[in-house]
Amino acid sequence: MEEFHKTRRLPPYVFEQVNKLKAAARAQGADIIDLGMGNPDLPTPPHIVEKLTEVVQDPRTHRYSASKGITGLRKAQAAYYERRFGVKLNPNTQVVATLGSKEGFANMAQAITAPGDVVLSPNPSYPIHTFGFLMAGAAIRAIPAEPGPEVFHALERAVIHSVPKPIAVIMCYPANPTAYMADLEFYKDVVAFARKHDIFILSDLAYSEIYFGDTPPPSMLQVPGAIEVTAEFTSLSKTFSMPGWRVGFAVGNERLLAALARVKSYLDYGAFTPIQVAATAALNGPEDCIVEMRNTYKRRRDVLVESFGRAGWNIPAPEASMFAWAPIPEKFRALGSLEFSKLLLEKAEIAVAPGIGFGEYGDDYVRIGLVENEKRLRQAARNLRRFLETADETLHNVVPVSAAR
Ligand SMILES: Cc1ncc(COP(=O)(O)O)c(C=O)c1O
Repeated sequence: MEEFHKTRRLPPYVFEQVNKLKAAARAQGADIIDLGMGNPDLPTPPHIVEKLTEVVQDPRTHRYSASKGITGLRKAQAAYYERRFGVKLNPNTQVVATLGSKEGFANMAQAITAPGDVVLSPNPSYPIHTFGFLMAGAAIRAIPAEPGPEVFHALERAVIHSVPKPIAVIMCYPANPTAYMADLEFYKDVVAFARKHDIFILSDLAYSEIYFGDTPPPSMLQVPGAIEVTAEFTSLSKTFSMPGWRVGFAVGNERLLAALARVKSYLDYGAFTPIQVAATAALNGPEDCIVEMRNTYKRRRDVLVESFGRAGWNIPAPEASMFAWAPIPEKFRALGSLEFSKLLLEKAEIAVAPGIGFGEYGDDYVRIGLVENEKRLRQAARNLRRFLETADETLHNVVPVSAAR
């Protein structure tokens, strides 16, 4: 049977293949250490949960809520931007609450895209960056994920060679899956380029609070004039460990935000009011829970890099995000990231995300999530060591992708 026009543009989810193997191995009793997902495992801080349970008692909160977010929540987000980035936002026109940043991003794509529009997206990148726009009918042109001169060469080429001219460029730092970080100097050049060529910037800042060095990740909106061309997306999923609550934000350019709010007003009634009130309490509340979470991820990162390194796999230490972007060890590289991920799962009982799932330029890497505790990470390192020590004998069971084609 022929596939529908939209679903035809969505390739089978690569991660699903690893997930299936994981489920099968678990069903057979294997103790799989799951570093494959980007799903924060830490609980939401208790004061936020308490606010939800308090507010839900009031029947008035059971009605439809406000699609673009209740006023208090939008004000709290504007206050966060002022406090954290020194950026002043009008909560009525420059802030929209979303059902997680993923929904906000996808509906922004729906709102601004005409069929055939060209959008520039990093490769590798978080899948919604490309598929949100593909579903909206856009054509995607890849740019490098690593912030640096190559990005600008790619942007210049894109402006010269894309017909029609690109409408938007996506930026995501700290990046998923690569954990790359960008500084304000880089953002200044991006904004100058976008303003010169009349291109929108969609900046995904989901990891604004998960960083390990002394310099917090900046916002694109800190660049003077950025607001003329930029919408930026943040999320409570990682900052307050609230992934299941589905609360995020779009902020920035009024024209872009009005388009998003308009589309959303046809699609949803906003998150459940008690969730929005609890999210407001999170943003207006104490910051020690954010610091604690950051420190937990940092300790995990240190354990991962140190113990995997000792086991024989050198992984660069990520400066931010909750992922390590790990080059596949030389002797396995020819397998490609999907086959290597399957091998790790079968032989070392470690689940990781194959880099190819984030784009073709990710195939020499796997993404390792810092989503299990330190003890489990050490266990993973022991499994890894055993696997690497015996790999030469066991490897003959695996057919390289090139031979399997
Ligand atoms: C870069 C990036 N953007 C957005 C999201 C989605 O977050 P949310 O839960 O706010 O939809 C994620 C989640 O993993 C992410 O890594």
